[in-house]
Amino acid sequence: MIRIPRFAHATTGFVCAVILLVATAASAAGPGRHAIASAHPQATAAGREVLDAGGNAFDAAVAVAAALAVAEPYSSGIGGGGFFLLHHADDGRDTFLDARETAPAAATHDMYLDENGEFVRERSLNGGLAAAIPGLPAALVHIARTHGTLPLARTLAPAIRLARDGFLTGERYRLMAGYRTEALARDPIALQIFLRDGAAPPPGTRIVQPHLARTLESLAADGGESFYRGDIARLLVAGVRAAGGIWTLDDLAAYRVREREPIVADYHDIQVVSAPPPSAGGIVLVEALNILERYDLAALDEAARLHVVIEAMRRAYRDRADFLGDPDFTDIPLARLLDEDYAAWLARDLDLTRATPSDSLPPIGARPEGTDTTHFSVIDAAGNRVAATLSINTPFGSTVVPPGTGVVLNNEMDDFSARPLTPNTYGLVGAGANAIAPAKRPLSSMTPTFLVSPRRVGVLGTPGGSRIISMVLIGALEFARGGDPQRMVGASRYHHQYLPDQVQYERDGLAPALREALEARGHTLDEVSRNYGNMQAIVWDREAGTLEAASDPRGEGGSDVWAPAAP
Ligand code: GLY
Repeated sequence: MIRIPRFAHATTGFVCAVILLVATAASAAGPGRHAIASAHPQATAAGREVLDAGGNAFDAAVAVAAALAVAEPYSSGIGGGGFFLLHHADDGRDTFLDARETAPAAATHDMYLDENGEFVRERSLNGGLAAAIPGLPAALVHIARTHGTLPLARTLAPAIRLARDGFLTGERYRLMAGYRTEALARDPIALQIFLRDGAAPPPGTRIVQPHLARTLESLAADGGESFYRGDIARLLVAGVRAAGGIWTLDDLAAYRVREREPIVADYHDIQVVSAPPPSAGGIVLVEALNILERYDLAALDEAARLHVVIEAMRRAYRDRADFLGDPDFTDIPLARLLDEDYAAWLARDLDLTRATPSDSLPPIGARPEGTDTTHFSVIDAAGNRVAATLSINTPFGSTVVPPGTGVVLNNEMDDFSARPLTPNTYGLVGAGANAIAPAKRPLSSMTPTFLVSPRRVGVLGTPGGSRIISMVLIGALEFARGGDPQRMVGASRYHHQYLPDQVQYERDGLAPALREALEARGHTLDEVSRNYGNMQAIVWDREAGTLEAASDPRGEGGSDVWAPAAP
């Protein structure tokens, strides 16, 4: 039976700027080893270097995030934002650091509509108008000052080296740059740094980013003063405005990270700690798990089990559309959404033999987000842990790199609902809770998550736009079945997001017999042309004394588990 959060909010939005540190099951002792799983081996190595220098998991998170900003310029970066879920082993506190980007003050509700009221997607995806005010630099400073033990000069050193000396591209880089070649080629700086002869470079190309190295050095030296209020701020604003944007120096100076209370709930004997708004992740995940807890999944055959999971996804994603947005701007009926009686009500028309048509649910729409982003997971020897999902939205963000900064700016403005009922890239529609407003944070799907059972601790998350939440759900169900991190990251993926009313599944992800069984229940299936997601998971088995980490086989990440050197 589900117990809804000991720490649930009242029914309305969250208080701004509060520091709420939530106590969850504290472990008496740590695993005695360190573990990192990230989307890039050099980012994992950066975290290892910092842990070996005596840092804790939070210092490692700064190092990994900064290195990913350099080596995965299509996924995340200091021109973007993200979420960090942090666990302090000493007192069992969990807290959620919200470094989501904010809309500039000159943003307006209809800023992406033309004179006929038609949505112009190009404006919300490419160029200066697409970029929201970055949060990641402020997050790195905040983590270092509030949770870490080492100075930024030490934790940012690996990323600075990587930017100055360069990194070698892989197949994923070729894919991402190929997907965004046209937009990258329109920005003279992006063209120069990220393309070769105007095209995506072949694997093995060295990408050197000296301006980014200098920007990171300045962050280490002045704690973000120049980035948010000084010379770099002036370069950023000039670059954005030259690219058609509306940023001002005041927008950068006004940016603040928030520490928020995570979503906490129980699924059987597993405590789920996950992302609160402005991410939809934790709420949708817990809503789906609340529905699923009503069924004996182990007793169902595979087709019936998938059917029930798909129906839970459908109903939980519907609520994403209807209710969720920036909690500082939108009243969210959090207690109701997370309540087990509400899950019973959602499941009342869940027929084990037939798909529920989405248009038979109360109408509303939502829109998901872009296709890139990144995630990493860390546990240190003491048991401190971090799950961080970071983004600049679609690959290479807005593709704007303001001259002199090396900073790839996000296009997170496209995560807002630009116009009610207008389908986005994924065919979904949005709602008023996620409408554009000055200084507002766009709704996210990023779902950094901890899973804590009496025996095991899991740390997981993934990129993947709207599919992030369904991937974390599938990973959590694998964990609940006793799966190790390899199984969690390797599980076949399927997805339902309410609208479009179809089950998306990754290439070769569902066996023919399973597809037939789902179609016989009335589901429309849509094979996604390639695999998706890039999950990074760690599992610490406290009883067995094992610590394991795994990077998604679909990506090019690197995971590492090692014992600290003797002092
Ligand atoms: N831009 C991806 C997300 O926030 O969900």
